[in-house]
Amino acid sequence: MAQLWGGRFTKETDKLVYRFNASISFDRKFYRQDIAGSKAHVAMLFQQGILTREEQAQITEALDAILEDVESGKLEITDEYEDIHSFVEANLIDRLGDAGKKLHTGRSRNDQVALDMRLYTRDEIKETDDLLKKLLETLLDIMEKHTDTVMPGFTHLQKAQPITLAHHMGAYFEMFKRDRQRLSDIYKRMNYCPLGSGALAGTTYPLDREYTAKLLGFYGPTQNSMDGVSDRDYLIEFLSALCTVMMHLSRFSEEVIIWNSNEYQFVEIDDAYSTGSSIMPQKKNPDIAELVRGKTGRVYGALISLLTTMKGIPLAYNKDMQEDKELTFDAMDTAKGCLALFEGMLASMKFNRDAMRKSASLGFTNATDAADYLVNHGVPFRDAHGVIGQIVLSCIEKGIAIEDMSLWELKQFSDVFEEDIYNAISMETCVNKRLTIGAPGKEAMERAILEARKYLQENPVIG
Ligand code: ARG
Repeated sequence: MAQLWGGRFTKETDKLVYRFNASISFDRKFYRQDIAGSKAHVAMLFQQGILTREEQAQITEALDAILEDVESGKLEITDEYEDIHSFVEANLIDRLGDAGKKLHTGRSRNDQVALDMRLYTRDEIKETDDLLKKLLETLLDIMEKHTDTVMPGFTHLQKAQPITLAHHMGAYFEMFKRDRQRLSDIYKRMNYCPLGSGALAGTTYPLDREYTAKLLGFYGPTQNSMDGVSDRDYLIEFLSALCTVMMHLSRFSEEVIIWNSNEYQFVEIDDAYSTGSSIMPQKKNPDIAELVRGKTGRVYGALISLLTTMKGIPLAYNKDMQEDKELTFDAMDTAKGCLALFEGMLASMKFNRDAMRKSASLGFTNATDAADYLVNHGVPFRDAHGVIGQIVLSCIEKGIAIEDMSLWELKQFSDVFEEDIYNAISMETCVNKRLTIGAPGKEAMERAILEARKYLQENPVIG
């Protein structure tokens, strides 16, 4: 058991207590951030005349060597240390003796862990944003190819009106675009440095917090040392944004599962992204989409867990806050994994244009347009709605589509119908006459695609 704080104790820590208290099993994940923070701290201590040049150089060199040894596997981060901070400091002291003991001057593990977690989360935000951007690029590629691919749009999972695949993908484009905007907002609010907050009340050393903040790539230092050590809002915001990403991915997964079903056959998931059954040889299951949908709950769980952990904590640092890590790390890894896999599945998926088109034309998705035709010829909308309702009923009995009725048959319901009704209710007309901003008509979609390209060009990955 290697601890930093034995001085005022007369007894060894109980073994179970030690294990219960230790965080090394999970905070080892941010050894890089811990070392980077320490290097910035000693650079500042030297600048302020608190360490000599010689001491700073020695400590920095030894920290670099520790990093190198950990990365090469020469030095293992073992459970014999309480946390990652103790691990780094103990190794430094082993290598340097007294000079190593000066590293922690003017610092507490409270501001140290607050810094490490922020640095780690900052990188995670960037990586997540990168994956979201890739997903948007894939979506946009599909949109560009499918402005003519007619499919049914649904409400209540009932066929409603014809749209195109480009339009459907465009809806997801907007959702994931907002997810990126959320990340960018969070980044702007969280990119401030808590280092120098000390245990809770700053320190008596003349620390230059602006300088360490700058060295570590922050906009500046946090403004209140109590808040600096105990603020975890940025984690809650990030988890909340990840929950929304997962909710979007889960909805999309649900659609992919439906579209991939034997009944729909709108899409075929690539073999590389499907799995088989151990007993039923014919099966090709959409497990990836199901897992993404299933993992959503884990990410929601992490958010609720952290909100609950934080809700009763008096200022400033309390050990409860150590619970901010495990589930948060899991949520970060889960969301990134799901984004990467979903993008791969989507990019390799085949879209069955014929099945989509057939489904749209057999589902009375042109009924609204048929009613609009009557309206355009002077029939009040409510009457037109009734007439088309009767036509649909008759078509259902006969097992045909509206456009399969002869003009003579249509005229039995309303003598307003003329030969041009067939053109007015063709799938292409139904889609391409919808030209308002945001609608599926080809010209409207082409404008939306241009906007989307521009957005991607103008919004590189955060950082
Ligand atoms: N492992 C601790 C955490 O994650 C580090 C901070 C320890 N500070 C303390 N006062 N015990 O929060």
